[in-house]
Amino acid sequence: MTEPLRIGIAGLGTVGASVVRVLHEKAGQLSRQCGRDIIVTAVSARDRLRVRGVDVSAMTWFDDPEAMAKGAPIDVLVELIGGDSGPAEHCVRSALAAGRHVVTANKALLARHGVSLATMAEERGVLLNFEAAVAGGIPVIKAMRESLSGNTVSRVFGILNGTCNYILTRMEREGISFDACLKDAQRLGYAEADPTFDIEGNDTAHKLAILTSIAFGTQAAPDAIYLEGISNISLADIRAAKALGYKIKLLGVAQKTPAGIEQRVHPTMVPEASVIAQVDGVTNAVAIETDILGELLMVGPGAGGNATASAVVGDIADIAKARPGFQHAPAFGHPAKTLQPCPKAEMRSHAGGYFIRLTVHDRIGVFAAIATRMAQNGISLESIVQHNPDDDASDVTRKTVIMVTHETSEAAIRTATAEMLEDGHLTDKPQVIRIERAG
Ligand code: HSE
Repeated sequence: MTEPLRIGIAGLGTVGASVVRVLHEKAGQLSRQCGRDIIVTAVSARDRLRVRGVDVSAMTWFDDPEAMAKGAPIDVLVELIGGDSGPAEHCVRSALAAGRHVVTANKALLARHGVSLATMAEERGVLLNFEAAVAGGIPVIKAMRESLSGNTVSRVFGILNGTCNYILTRMEREGISFDACLKDAQRLGYAEADPTFDIEGNDTAHKLAILTSIAFGTQAAPDAIYLEGISNISLADIRAAKALGYKIKLLGVAQKTPAGIEQRVHPTMVPEASVIAQVDGVTNAVAIETDILGELLMVGPGAGGNATASAVVGDIADIAKARPGFQHAPAFGHPAKTLQPCPKAEMRSHAGGYFIRLTVHDRIGVFAAIATRMAQNGISLESIVQHNPDDDASDVTRKTVIMVTHETSEAAIRTATAEMLEDGHLTDKPQVIRIERAG
């Protein structure tokens, strides 16, 4: 039998502990599948004494992950520290420089430094695997990188953050406050160390940047992504969406348009009857539209120890199965040196339908003035209603107006809503939620 594959794990949080446990519990099965044993020989974490529910006493302990990446007798570094710089970046670069394979779940690191890390890996003939970085346990990276070669992708979009989907689902089903739902997501181990990364959309943006790179053969460009999180979504929005036949989901969308590649993360209205609208709780979904295959939708567990460990262990097993002399698939599906700068389409050129919720002064002419501003900006209305069960019956001076538009441009919507504010008819900032076409 081939020599065992020796693993060093940097970071022993929820995911790291799950990876150690799965590798231990499934050692026999993995050995039969890979034709060699996989053994964790070294670990590194901040706190040696923390109780983790897994036995790491037989493994060599390193306080410094970089020292482990450089000096431990390992074949693979598994980086589960997180963050786009600091110890995570240093230990990954050191491992690649030393000719070791790397498996990571670190979306922020890949979104920021993916091109240079992939270049290092490809130059040294080692693997940089990151299935767990996007959509937890869903094998979307491998599907896009390998199985869809030859397809031309036109749009990739999805529910990429379990925490946000969990919060929106519970708000919708149980009418529970945003804050209470977030606390539960943290308690269940779904949220990032800093949960603002989840709720403000940064986590989704990092994942989207990786998907865009593989889908379109471009360099990951997280700063080119238009970003809006869900902290602004109220129960009133969720109820209004339901009344109109929609659900609200935080989507990451990358799409080829005549203006370039549009990358956006924002709360989105999707038709209640669409498949993606049925994806609830911590579950993630990724839809990929291509010329040959048509539409592929992958749905599965997107966050938590087991979902992420499943993807990490799969990546480790791929390395264990790889045979010397075989060329590895490039990390982003195209040789790193051929990845092109991402041609950014400005958000103002986005075309689509819009939901707009306005709170207005209840006086003669306001309704007409709003409709006029929409018409002056060339925006066609699908519906406009001035009845809302959430309106405060004791305050007769304020009313809600809800509009749904036909396809129009973001520029037109921004101008029309700015003009309405200037006209002095609104009591608050307009709430604008984009409507996404989904099958
Ligand atoms: N915080 C992330 C989520 C974990 O909620 O989806 C997986 O990346």
